[in-house]
Amino acid sequence: MRILVCGKGGSGKSTICSLLAKSMVAKGYNILVIDSDESNYGLHRQLGMELPDDFMNFFGGKKEIGRKMRELFNKGESVNIFDKRWGIDDLPREYIAEKNGIKLLAIGKIHEFREGCACPMGALAKTLLDNLDVTNKEVVIVDTDAGIEHFGRGVEQGCDVILVIVEPSYESLKLAKKIEEMAKGIGKIVYVVLNKVDDYNRDMMLKSLNRSKVNVAGAIPANKDVFKACLAGEELDVDLREIEELTNKILE
Ligand SMILES: Nc1ncnc2c1ncn2[C@@H]1O[C@H](COP(=O)(O)OP(=O)(O)OP(=O)(O)O)[C@@H](O)[C@H]1O
Ligand SMILES: [Mg+2]
Repeated sequence: MRILVCGKGGSGKSTICSLLAKSMVAKGYNILVIDSDESNYGLHRQLGMELPDDFMNFFGGKKEIGRKMRELFNKGESVNIFDKRWGIDDLPREYIAEKNGIKLLAIGKIHEFREGCACPMGALAKTLLDNLDVTNKEVVIVDTDAGIEHFGRGVEQGCDVILVIVEPSYESLKLAKKIEEMAKGIGKIVYVVLNKVDDYNRDMMLKSLNRSKVNVAGAIPANKDVFKACLAGEELDVDLREIEELTNKILE
């Protein structure tokens, strides 16, 4: 199963990715987390790992990927730099960090002033997912950059399930409804996950989302231990019943 996690900036995408990865590995699944966010540096810390080298470097670096993709595009060919389908075990070891059975691959980060846009990162994330075969015992969890640029690019095409993370804010709720519509339009399973909830804002959020229409799969509480670990850049070692329930729902 390939799960893409998206939502507004700061809504808790990376946090939920990390908590789900830990919960799913405990159930015996092989987990690959893909960090497709070109800006942020929290996910690998939440997983208690060092950030692996940019996967883009395997293909000659960002400029070379951009060049190859432009060349293919100009020839009218599909913009795909993979010459065959891959399994998780085919991914080059030197670009994978691993801890407690969870693997982490990072598409690449922005490193320098004026190095150019992040299009090659998005394109690589899309083609990787489009070419990745996943067995029944494997789960790929994709942590995305904030917002919906990846929808414009079509990264979601290579995923089975889309998780939309919503925090208690008007903008987050608004964006979740838009994502929900777009994702349904391409025939994907979509689950909305409320995050940072308490009794007051859970009801407000459910009302706003119009529960009868939107598939709300879980509500993760605002949790002090999660908050503290995120602030310190420490590994998330928090067991939440709500994450366990969400895991079961997604994998059922
Ligand atoms: N369930 C939670 N309980 C308490 N705090 C949380 C929870 N989920 C997220 N947070 C807080 O929200 C912050 C943002 O979370 P996170 O980095 O996971 O969001 P994000 O959506 O990945 O952000 P970005 O768009 O910048 O990548 C965390 O640093 C943490 O402080
Ligand atoms: Mg993040």
